[in-house]
Amino acid sequence: MTNYIRLGVNIDHVATLRNARGGTHPDPFTIAQACVAAGADGITIHLREDRRHIRDADAIKICAEIPAPINLEMAATEEMTSIACQLKPHGVCIVPERRAEITTEGGLDVVSHQAELKPLIARLNAAGIVVSLFVDPEPAQLQAAVAVGAAVVELHTGAYANHKPGELARLTAAAALTTKLGLECHAGHGLTYENVTPVAALPEIRELNIGHYLMGEALLVGLPETIRHMKGLMEAARQG
Ligand code: PXP
Repeated sequence: MTNYIRLGVNIDHVATLRNARGGTHPDPFTIAQACVAAGADGITIHLREDRRHIRDADAIKICAEIPAPINLEMAATEEMTSIACQLKPHGVCIVPERRAEITTEGGLDVVSHQAELKPLIARLNAAGIVVSLFVDPEPAQLQAAVAVGAAVVELHTGAYANHKPGELARLTAAAALTTKLGLECHAGHGLTYENVTPVAALPEIRELNIGHYLMGEALLVGLPETIRHMKGLMEAARQG
């Protein structure tokens, strides 16, 4: 099914809600299980340097026990690279966490950080982890992603979601370029029922990672219904 587009569900906000009371409920692991049962193709978690939502114990259990590919978002640091090599998630998505690592729109500035990224990515690749870089839809960032050894880029859809003029055209051109460069193409940030269709329709995009909107909708209609509805919109977009 080459036309299939995967939905990765980001569950960081479940951990934020749990941490608000300092207890154990709601449990990100249990929610990850529910997401997979409802049809999520993967689970995305961001282990931040400050551990403000997902914590090490969450990441360990989720990577070990969830029966679906885990996408671990992380900063390009020594600490996170060591953790990832131990946890061995299916994939790692390197994201910026400090202002200095961010491009104008908010993706990782791969162009300016090639020397630091290359050895980290080589270690992750050697551990059998598929490495993705969260980048703005800019040709120079995609070319730099190839140069540092990433197999995947996740195109930052935040500017598109904020209605910035011309962003869908930039995403369309960037997605087409990924194929020419031999990169697998993912996308995410700020996607909703209202704006997902044009992005999901881009044939090069193999996966969308969506979190905040799904969790908000789940409060209204429940997680299974929310995931099924988003997947339905994505599948319909592929059929044109
Ligand atoms: N992809 C990446 C790399 C992200 O950092 C995030 C936000 O954590 C998302 C996707 C999901 O964004 P949203 O929560 O707006 O759907």
